[in-house]
Amino acid sequence: MCGIVGVLGQHEVSPIILDALKRLEYRGYDSAGIATVNKGRLDRRRAVGKLIHLSDMLVHQPLPGRSGIGHTRWATHGGPSVANAHPHQVGRVAVVHNGIIENFRALREELAADGAVFTSQTDTETIVQLASQYLDQGMMPVQAARATLRRLDGAFALAFLFEGEEDMIICARRGSPLCIGHGEGEMYLGSDAIALAEMTNRITYLEEGDWAIVTRSGVQIFDADDRQTARPVTQINAAQARVDKSGHRHFMAKEMAEQPAVLQSAMGFYSGLDHGGVDLPAGLDFARADRLIMVACGTAYYACQVAKYWFEQFAGLPVELDIASEFRYREPVLGPQNMALFVSQSGETADTLAALRHVRPHVAQVVAVVNVPTSSIAREADLVLPIHAGPEIGVASTKAFTAQLQVLALLALRAGLERGRLGWEDYLARLGELRAAPGFVAQALDREDEIRRMTEMLAKARDVLFLGRGVMYPLALEGALKLKEISYIHAEAYAAGELKHGPIALIDKDLPVIVFAPHDALFEKTVSNMHEVMARQGRVLLISDAAGLAEAGEVPYSLQMPTVPDLIAPIVYAVPAQLIAYHTALHRGTDVDQPRNLAKSVTVE
Ligand code: AGP
Repeated sequence: MCGIVGVLGQHEVSPIILDALKRLEYRGYDSAGIATVNKGRLDRRRAVGKLIHLSDMLVHQPLPGRSGIGHTRWATHGGPSVANAHPHQVGRVAVVHNGIIENFRALREELAADGAVFTSQTDTETIVQLASQYLDQGMMPVQAARATLRRLDGAFALAFLFEGEEDMIICARRGSPLCIGHGEGEMYLGSDAIALAEMTNRITYLEEGDWAIVTRSGVQIFDADDRQTARPVTQINAAQARVDKSGHRHFMAKEMAEQPAVLQSAMGFYSGLDHGGVDLPAGLDFARADRLIMVACGTAYYACQVAKYWFEQFAGLPVELDIASEFRYREPVLGPQNMALFVSQSGETADTLAALRHVRPHVAQVVAVVNVPTSSIAREADLVLPIHAGPEIGVASTKAFTAQLQVLALLALRAGLERGRLGWEDYLARLGELRAAPGFVAQALDREDEIRRMTEMLAKARDVLFLGRGVMYPLALEGALKLKEISYIHAEAYAAGELKHGPIALIDKDLPVIVFAPHDALFEKTVSNMHEVMARQGRVLLISDAAGLAEAGEVPYSLQMPTVPDLIAPIVYAVPAQLIAYHTALHRGTDVDQPRNLAKSVTVE
């Protein structure tokens, strides 16, 4: 996904827009650019790579003006280049865009046939070519923008800036988030409230299909049918929008360290005030559900994979699980008593949102577990359970994963209670185990120095294998993903019992094998798989607790975790998975917070 910003200011806007873009850089960092109107004249600066390159350019080639739009890009159509960087400008109009124009090829052919000369490979350029053509036909800017929006199919959040218009930005939301910020004699727009937090905490979230005319005196909002409408101005919590590293070297380090506090506060949010249980949104109906469908992507999907064990174990509720990009294309069988649950940190992942829209008409209830309650997925669900993790900026998801697990565990326990599979005392005992998770996570974080030393051997590896059984299998998957996405080392995860069915052929003295195995009911089986690896000189790192390490005997590398109840083991063992990836990446000198080719949330399918 990309980040877009707009400012109608009382001062020079380039530095303000640059700062806002820095707060959106986690959304994409392949290129960046700003356009302004100064004394009626439209001009722009664009640079490939991270924002620092645009910042350097602005020092040598200042861009004056008190009205402007800006963009930071995660490349979809057309690689990272100046020609493909936003803002795109044709004649008297410039545009910044987040999303995908699905019909851009047909539009491009039509416009080229009318003589338009394209200078980029992007879908976005068709937007500005269209608007420019409408201006040339004599339309006024608002009409040209409206006519352009009518021709676009796909998902987008975009902003137009016009030559000669020093007090107007026209913007639109369809499938990608966009908010308006209210200042004192100034107005702003941004992909999310975080971008605008330094300028204002008074935010209006545009709804799906809205478009708006923004001027310094305020905003006129029109719905998809062009009816003028009003959207509320909300006051966001400044702390929520605070995004700094708080003294840590990386956002990822900060967010890993925040996990005990995040889990503590989220548990507090859901803890019942008048009883030992928890207060979940009214209307959750597990008793009538005949099946739970869980859909997500990446790390959020692995959280669902852990939760599948919990829902089936504690609630006897059959669970169907799928990655969002596969789910709706296999024509899943849906039923009127099904409950569908979507998990997403950003709440904007296009694959997950598309899957939600696919099931909506066919199931009893759509529930969303998200970190952004104002996100598209949250808005389109029947019930929303925020994970209260605070802004997660590091591209590699950490605190959101453990917070997702905590909320999913609460749901699974509640389902068990409602379906008569868990007695009240047992339910309270499990909740007590969950309440102890923050302390155990803090203990796991205390092993960081030992992990840092251990990862020196990993940093030189070409491939790494992760193994686990039961709920530790999705943890192995998560560990492999973390390592891949920030250290760029190829890593795979297998159910430990599956190794002998082929992958064991990979084992040799050069292959590190990381085994997640708390001393639970599956420990012995996992350790026997581990011994199969060691018999073939595999370099094993066993992550277990005191009892497990004592029973496992001599292993090349071991890491001791606190002894924890089975229920919270996935939450606690997520910490070594995260720290192993983090320190391996540091050894390799890769960009931990903004790994190559990635963006924090993928809002294109
Ligand atoms: C996780 O570390 C990755 N950055 C990625 O797999 C992520 O979990 C996935 O894109 C889903 O994002 P979401 O939770 O915002 O939907």
